[in-house]
Amino acid sequence: MIHRSALILLAGCAAVFAAPTNTAVSISDATISKVKSNMLQISTHSWEIGTALEALTELEWPSLSVFGGSLPPPVKLPSGTASDVIKWATKIVKAKDPKSLPLVDGDGAVGDPASIGVAVLLTNWTRTNRGDHEFSTAAGHQLTYLLDKAPRTSDGAISHRSEQVQLWADFVYMAPPFIAYYGALKGGSGGLSLLKIAYKQCKLYRQYLRSSSGLWKHIVLGSWQDNHHWGTGNAWAAAGMLRVLETIHHSKLASKMQSEQSDLKSWINEIVSASWKHQHTNGTLFNYIDESDSFADSSSTALLAAVTYRLASLTGDNSHISAANKAYSLIKSSVDSNGWLRNTVDPETFDTPSQPGSHSPEGQSFVLLLQAAYRDYHAK
Ligand SMILES: *[C@@H]1O[C@H](CO)[C@@H](O)[C@H](O)[C@H]1NC(C)=O
Ligand SMILES: *[C@@H]1O[C@H](CO)[C@@H](O)[C@H](O)[C@H]1NC(C)=O
Repeated sequence: MIHRSALILLAGCAAVFAAPTNTAVSISDATISKVKSNMLQISTHSWEIGTALEALTELEWPSLSVFGGSLPPPVKLPSGTASDVIKWATKIVKAKDPKSLPLVDGDGAVGDPASIGVAVLLTNWTRTNRGDHEFSTAAGHQLTYLLDKAPRTSDGAISHRSEQVQLWADFVYMAPPFIAYYGALKGGSGGLSLLKIAYKQCKLYRQYLRSSSGLWKHIVLGSWQDNHHWGTGNAWAAAGMLRVLETIHHSKLASKMQSEQSDLKSWINEIVSASWKHQHTNGTLFNYIDESDSFADSSSTALLAAVTYRLASLTGDNSHISAANKAYSLIKSSVDSNGWLRNTVDPETFDTPSQPGSHSPEGQSFVLLLQAAYRDYHAK
């Protein structure tokens, strides 16, 4: 008996010493629910809707997200499951112009409407009216647009813009996760080739955008560029590659894409490692990550912390967890009592803080993505 209690004591000590430094107390459910309702209220652009749908899925329906269960998802869901995601995707498909290939108007962006595609595919897969092919057709049209209509570079990178060939880091979160998810549901050789296309787009985008530090530029090619290492751009790229990786990993084709999965892990880690080198004492990253005259940006800090928790859950490498914990504490203290994330970059100028009284729709989503990643990391 003495022996046993000594062991328990020892186990208790080990737990204390093993706990990562700066473990923050979780953001409360009440706060998360305010963050969410604000997100729902202000997300209107295609990429904001796609990101919000992903945030809802990861936060509330984790077994249906690519981080949760095996793919494809079950055909029959318990009543009410993912109802908010399905309702929103349904509304979009029912309102879609049948003559347009993209799911919604992307304001000239090729990639952004595709971000909604994962939720449309989930809606199709789990629909109760099995005779309704509208969702499948809409998702198919969106894929056709990306693969057969959108402009490309000579080596095959799909342009993020429709009027000229221009590559934006943002694209990596918007289109490749959709192409990969399409492939994971399709399965077989057709599915495998879609998973490979998603991987290849990540690879090409990295070739064009990566600087020697490992950070990615924001926008290259076309009539103007943004060569800064934009925090949100790096977060989009890392988080998009992570979704592609997890889609491959949870698909039936995972064993056929081993080297692609290890490449993606190392490319994500490259951005994460290069970013946290520039973390400030209070946990924030700057909007232009490596520029000391830039300003603190909570949006990119939140999404890069989410990626850091998810990657550590996957690889068991905890070397960046203390940076993620510091970032989590900063995000927690940056959400005000009404559920708004403060100190965000204006997501449409890229280089100025959000004006007083205005908020970042994607920033609201990033808080939910961070909360889901933090929860899943600690549940391991
Ligand atoms: C839609 O769901 C059906 C199964 O009901 C499936 O056969 C089809 O491939 C799905 N469409 C897409 C684009 O995934
Ligand atoms: C965190 O630190 C940075 C750099 O010192 C500063 O600009 C920013 O305002 C700080 N953020 C908060 C929320 O205190």
